[in-house]
Amino acid sequence: MANRYEGKVVLVTGAGKGMGESIAQNFAKEGAAVGLLDWDETALKANVKAITDAGGKALGVKANVGLLVDVEKAVKEIVEEFGGLDIIVNAAGIIRYGTAEELSEKDWDDLMNVNTKAIFLTSKFGIPHIKKRGKGCVLNFSSVQAFVSQTQVVGYTASKGAVIAMTRTLAMDHAADQIRVIAIAPGSTDTPMLRQGAEQAANANKTPDDVLRQWAKDHPLGRLQTPQDMANLCLFLASDDASAITGTSITIDCGLTMQVAVALEQ
Ligand SMILES: NC(=O)c1ccc[n+]([C@@H]2O[C@H](COP(=O)([O-])OP(=O)(O)OC[C@H]3O[C@@H](n4cnc5c(N)ncnc54)[C@H](O)[C@@H]3O)[C@@H](O)[C@H]2O)c1
Repeated sequence: MANRYEGKVVLVTGAGKGMGESIAQNFAKEGAAVGLLDWDETALKANVKAITDAGGKALGVKANVGLLVDVEKAVKEIVEEFGGLDIIVNAAGIIRYGTAEELSEKDWDDLMNVNTKAIFLTSKFGIPHIKKRGKGCVLNFSSVQAFVSQTQVVGYTASKGAVIAMTRTLAMDHAADQIRVIAIAPGSTDTPMLRQGAEQAANANKTPDDVLRQWAKDHPLGRLQTPQDMANLCLFLASDDASAITGTSITIDCGLTMQVAVALEQ
């Protein structure tokens, strides 16, 4: 199991922090050479160091995943360094809050560029290299918010719903190439993104930690997901154990979306 990914090259976006950080570390721990993309250079360097200090193979490339020139260059550098590409994990993402009346056009465009267009770009430049390997996998981070909603997330939900739809098409387009494409829809996961949300939701009566505790309780299993939960799922989905899975989305939410809001009287 420790060397399940020996000889494989994995590109992870958003690999500086949060889920991407853990996903990159876990693929490296199982033997993969990992190309890390992030626009936060400090976080990127720290994670490359963590991986190489632990004996893993990693190359960090500073890139804005919503920009074609950056993604094209990053894929080229990773393929040159490691000799090919087998797996892409699209974990970079941003959230912006506001109703349609409040959200700026820039926020809308940023959400679409980072959460949606980036997946088109990594696929555009990465899939030709995966094809040369004879098989591979693309994992796209969506959200439970593609299926159920909250207020104030009109742009975020649009960007994450699009991920589910484009995952199906990518999977159909490349099934004959033995490239599997799967969307992952997490519930609340303890990362810098979630902690930022908790800080915004805190007030004089609730600290950010109180908010996180309440969100954990809202998940029927009584906890938030962790970045390690996401890495575990990616390691499974990208492996031959999941070779029959493609064109679908996997919800990983401690039961959050199985419930209806109105409880029956006990
Ligand atoms: N945390 C949650 O509760 C949650 C729930 C559902 C879905 N998601 C999704 O999971 C994915 C990972 O989220 P996270 O919680 O780890 O987020 P995070 O904010 O903790 O980390 C995201 C990483 O992506 C990088 N990034 C953002 N924009 C970028 C850009 N334009 N170019 C390059 N790098 C960029 C950031 O620098 C950061 O390192 C995202 O797609 C997010 O929307 C998160």
